[in-house]
Amino acid sequence: MSKTIVANFKMNGSSEFIKNWIFEFKQNHKSKNNIILAIPHIYLSEFNGFDLNVAAQNVSSKKDGPYTSQISAKMLQDTQIKYCIIGHSESRKYLNESNAEIMEKFNELIQYEITPIVCIGEPQEVRTNNDTIGYLKSQVSSFKSFRRKIIFAYEPIWAIGTGEHAENDDINEVVDFLRSEFDQEIEILYGGSINVENCDDLHEKTDINGLLVGGASLNPKEFAKIAAL
Ligand code: PGA
Repeated sequence: MSKTIVANFKMNGSSEFIKNWIFEFKQNHKSKNNIILAIPHIYLSEFNGFDLNVAAQNVSSKKDGPYTSQISAKMLQDTQIKYCIIGHSESRKYLNESNAEIMEKFNELIQYEITPIVCIGEPQEVRTNNDTIGYLKSQVSSFKSFRRKIIFAYEPIWAIGTGEHAENDDINEVVDFLRSEFDQEIEILYGGSINVENCDDLHEKTDINGLLVGGASLNPKEFAKIAAL
């Protein structure tokens, strides 16, 4: 089964960097997986259509109007963007995004036929209190009314950029929980300190459908190995 592998560049790169990255990635990559490149908004149009899918890293929950700095789902559709990450913990934290607002973004994207990649994940204190499933339940509950396929990316906040990733058993517990919560098809990606050394084990021993890779995705050769799962 083909996997979904997302490279999340976050606020890194430049036009030159992305051009070179795509060139090197293509020389090294040989899988049939669905590769998605989440790059800063300003480069989306430039790199859409290099036979890789590009994704926006966020979208406004509003349609249009006086929302300086924001970009709407309709604008993403207008530039033929097919995917958009929403609910990344860095957006939740630095932009103060609530679960309700993330649901509004989801509805906007669906309306304009853009596939959302919905990030969820617990902070360290929730993990310490053994309440991960309860916390995730509150993050996903409003998505249950949507009847079509959803892509979730499970990214424990304590694992992002820390070098510490979730244990396989813990990931499987989250996967089982999400599959039991949703009747419709869901795709579950894992993200948080993925690298070349740990990706095979995660792939073999967990029931995930793909990966969302941050730091390690900036190296095109390394990402090509991860993407060849
Ligand atoms: P990381 O980031 O791979 O650098 O931990 C993952 C993410 O934030 O999407």
